[in-house]
Amino acid sequence: MANKCDLCLLGLIILSSLLTGTSGVDDEDVFISSGENVRLPCNNALSDCNSTTWSYNRDSAAVELITGGKKKKDTERHERLSLGSDCSLNIKNVTQEDYGSYTCRQYVNDKQQGTDEHVYLHVLHVSVSPSSSSSSSSSSQTEISPGRSVTLSCQLYSYTRFSCNSEGLQLLWRNQSGVDLRTDSRYQISSDHCNINLTTTLLNEDDNREWRCQLTVRNQLQTSVRYTVKYSATALNPASPVIVIVIVVASFAVLLPALILWMIRRKRDDNRRGTGDSEDQQTRPVYPTGQNTLLQQVPSGGGVADTPDACWMHS
Ligand SMILES: *[C@@H]1O[C@H](CO)[C@@H](O)[C@H](O)[C@H]1NC(C)=O
Ligand SMILES: *[C@@H]1O[C@H](CO)[C@@H](O)[C@H](O)[C@H]1NC(C)=O
Ligand SMILES: *[C@@H]1O[C@H](CO)[C@@H](O)[C@H](O)[C@H]1NC(C)=O
Ligand SMILES: *[C@@H]1O[C@H](CO)[C@@H](O)[C@H](O)[C@H]1NC(C)=O
Repeated sequence: MANKCDLCLLGLIILSSLLTGTSGVDDEDVFISSGENVRLPCNNALSDCNSTTWSYNRDSAAVELITGGKKKKDTERHERLSLGSDCSLNIKNVTQEDYGSYTCRQYVNDKQQGTDEHVYLHVLHVSVSPSSSSSSSSSSQTEISPGRSVTLSCQLYSYTRFSCNSEGLQLLWRNQSGVDLRTDSRYQISSDHCNINLTTTLLNEDDNREWRCQLTVRNQLQTSVRYTVKYSATALNPASPVIVIVIVVASFAVLLPALILWMIRRKRDDNRRGTGDSEDQQTRPVYPTGQNTLLQQVPSGGGVADTPDACWMHS
């Protein structure tokens, strides 16, 4: 039921005048979730679209995406764009970077036809922390494990013209039954303008559980992003940590006696050598530097090395 609802509302367009009451009649707001496909309408449509120009604008100067009905090849996202038969702009696999203002302009005989058509695209996107190492941030699934705390941050990327404080706009986290998760003490929910965060400690039974971040305007669902918990096989397999512990313990069992033996031997060596050295220093004659170093190398190579073994065997 809810799935069907999401589908039929996908790409739903509402008039910006409903939201702000100040924008032009032709301006539209489109809400979409990242990863989905969207169609931005050009209501100036002519019988053919070979004069259609679509440009994109956010913070800086406008960039032309479509000129004379043809895609500009040099734009970063040209592969995800296409021009519909009704001159609408189609964007595949929307990313949060696609939010902004899109303008459709039509010409007849080099003269602009009608006025500019502005469409404002607002993108809902969920990011997860700790983030998954294997998949990109746009993925709705991530490999995480029970017992860990996870934060799902749901953000509405919105063009400045549009305010998240707008009357009637609401972001909510719901579970599969549609229950508002603020009512469940298991979840910590914090929200701030265009952003709502859900934090919870994952339980074993959360595998395959789905949470949805929903954007509604005046109680009408605009778009929603689902997040599905997916535990990897190893995260649920209790044997793997045990094996690691066994290996660690086993290595200690072998290494520890060896280490103790080595330390005992070393201590004995030191005692031996300590007394020997002090005698050497007292009796050692002073040679010119070159000879002295030559002589010092001789005992450290042969004599000293033999002593510890001998004394170990005697004791
Ligand atoms: C667009 O195509 C139509 C025929 O489909 C042609 O008559 C018209 O001149 C073309 N316009 C431009 C600007 O190329
Ligand atoms: C959509 O874009 C994301 C990156 O933004 C990419 O990882 C993913 O594979 C794309 N999906 C499709 C169906 O192209
Ligand atoms: C949704 O949350 C309510 C309240 O916490 C709970 O009773 C219900 O079982 C949950 N539904 C799902 C599908 O998890
Ligand atoms: C939600 O999480 C994001 C990323 O961790 C953070 O930047 C933002 O301030 C948080 N918002 C709230 C309302 O806590």
